[in-house]
Amino acid sequence: MKIFIDSASTVEIEKWLNMGIADGVTTNPSILLKGGLYDIERGTKEISALVNPRPVSVEVTTNDLQEMVSQGREFAAWASNIVIKVPQETEDGVPCYEVMHQLENEGIKVNATVALSLGQIILSAKAGASYISIFAGRVGDEGGNPSEVIRNSVEWLERWKFNSKIIVGSIRCVADVLQAALAGAHIITIPPEFLAKMADHKYTRETVRQFVNDAAKATEMMRNISLGSDR
Ligand code: E4P
Repeated sequence: MKIFIDSASTVEIEKWLNMGIADGVTTNPSILLKGGLYDIERGTKEISALVNPRPVSVEVTTNDLQEMVSQGREFAAWASNIVIKVPQETEDGVPCYEVMHQLENEGIKVNATVALSLGQIILSAKAGASYISIFAGRVGDEGGNPSEVIRNSVEWLERWKFNSKIIVGSIRCVADVLQAALAGAHIITIPPEFLAKMADHKYTRETVRQFVNDAAKATEMMRNISLGSDR
């Protein structure tokens, strides 16, 4: 299972890269805005250079299908590791599978994003998307069962030997990460704050404190023993 960083913070991305934990990065217009990266090109190029050759997802910013294709081509030319996020449909409900199909046929990797149902996953895979993003938190917002959607999607892709990889995003707490992992997600994209929480356990800290204190006591005992033998 791979872990992507769902953030545009180069400080956080570098931190988790250096720990060997980050296998890629996902962004979206809201994440870039929140991170103060108003210049999408500059921000995306900086992140892509940092994580290269790992993938970086950047999303199209229009409801017009032809413009999505043009943006996909333009964004993909910024760096070799860029993946184009294309939504399942526009805000008016026009399906975007043609855009995914066109970009993949041109050799541009697509992340079929904002997937909330198995039906959308099936269509994204058929369109040829390299990655399909299930928004677990938003599935839950609607009263759905994210684990069930993830498990069914992974099983369906495997049964029919599709190469699309399921990315689980829209993570709202550590439990979401663990449930996605157990449901068989190929990749989970995690905001850094939850990675930090995953790493931390107060009893681990307490145990480490005990070991460090006992090691110091042992060193002190050794010092006393060797001082005694010198007398
Ligand atoms: C994933 O690729 C998305 O960037 C992200 O996880 C969306 O999550 P949200 O529901 O918090 O907007």
